[in-house]
Amino acid sequence: MQVLLHWRVGLLTIFVLFGLFIVWGFGGCTDKNVFQGLRHFEGLKLTPWKFVYNRMVRNIGIRFFKSDVLIPELQTCKAADFGRDVWCGRWTRHGKNDECFVGDDGRYRCLASDFPCKAPWCDGSLGVLESNGWVYSAHCSFKMYSAQSAWDCLKNRWIFFWGDSNHVDTIRNMLNFILELPDVHSVPRRFDMNFSNPRDMSQTVRITSIFNGHWNETQNYLGVDSIRNKGFQNLLKKYFSEDTIPDTVIINSGLHDGVHFSSIRAFSVGAAHAASFWAGVLEMVKQRGLALPRVFYRTTVATGGYARSLAFNPNKMDVFNAVFIDKLKQAGVVSGVIDNFDMTFPWHFDNRCNDGVHYGRAPAKLKWRDGEIGHQYFVDLMLGHVLLNALCAR
Ligand SMILES: *[C@@H]1O[C@H](CO)[C@@H](O)[C@H](O)[C@H]1NC(C)=O
Ligand SMILES: *[C@@H]1O[C@H](CO)[C@@H](O)[C@H](O)[C@H]1NC(C)=O
Repeated sequence: MQVLLHWRVGLLTIFVLFGLFIVWGFGGCTDKNVFQGLRHFEGLKLTPWKFVYNRMVRNIGIRFFKSDVLIPELQTCKAADFGRDVWCGRWTRHGKNDECFVGDDGRYRCLASDFPCKAPWCDGSLGVLESNGWVYSAHCSFKMYSAQSAWDCLKNRWIFFWGDSNHVDTIRNMLNFILELPDVHSVPRRFDMNFSNPRDMSQTVRITSIFNGHWNETQNYLGVDSIRNKGFQNLLKKYFSEDTIPDTVIINSGLHDGVHFSSIRAFSVGAAHAASFWAGVLEMVKQRGLALPRVFYRTTVATGGYARSLAFNPNKMDVFNAVFIDKLKQAGVVSGVIDNFDMTFPWHFDNRCNDGVHYGRAPAKLKWRDGEIGHQYFVDLMLGHVLLNALCAR
């Protein structure tokens, strides 16, 4: 079986083949920048494609054997587990249906929806992920939410998103797959809506999502500098000036930042400015005597396939993610991190699970970027469950 897999496997290959600069972190976690084929942090440049070394050097088949390796301390995530800045997770596989094909609706229902998780790798039903057995775990493992448990957690809550276009897909997928609202075919880049549980209309959740690619709704590629616009600032502040305010805020720096900012120094200034804006919003809330929302930073995806060598290549976004988290922490804004970069990284070598820049495009039985019919969307669906863990864990 030939698989691109976890970056640890890639690490060995790359280490042997390129002998690149490697930084060992604690717990065996390694600087992931070595995989991009970009030497000397050239990925930070605005035109990295000039420096990309994009050649298949060796094609090495890797055989996988079933083993019962356990990570002894792995337990279901608690609220405190989201305090960790960088995750060093893994995808593991606990089921496989070799006869699995894309359905007419673009979905891969390979395992029964009640196919169980295997402890300690996840908790609940693994089948709902439509991943043909794959699941992600980090320093803790995640609960897979049923519609009812998700509604029980989200009822009466107000979740506020500020970030890139991947949020749009994630929100739609959460509504479609997890909260069982199949009629929501898409959500706009900018919206504020209430959704009700079709089985119990008394359960509602308010979701607000504001794209941060530009202050002008129809434009893009201004990134966090969008916050320099007064009108945009007021739009955001308005949601924190009502009688009730969002209880949770999920922020990220988008791929558009990789396009807009010509250097890490420039991004650092933009990120610090955005962080101080959010610190001001929280201060305003505090002065009104209201409970502060919890703020999570959801790291930006590792771009996949052809998009690995563009202005938002993973090499650069990994650094940008770290810079923004740092600025938000310094400003006292962020209370937790959801490392979607780590989650997407093992699937970024080709376009099977992404269109280059999105991991959660709606299922469709259509020709995909890599020429196959249909595409995998489970990486984003996993993020949806991880977000629920962050929102609901105590
Ligand atoms: C959503 O519900 C809240 C609380 O009931 C209400 O204040 C708000 O106006 C509603 N928003 C929309 C877009 O209907
Ligand atoms: C937003 O940009 C569009 C062009 O994409 C322009 O027509 C429109 O006037 C802009 N809106 C504002 C409020 O500046």
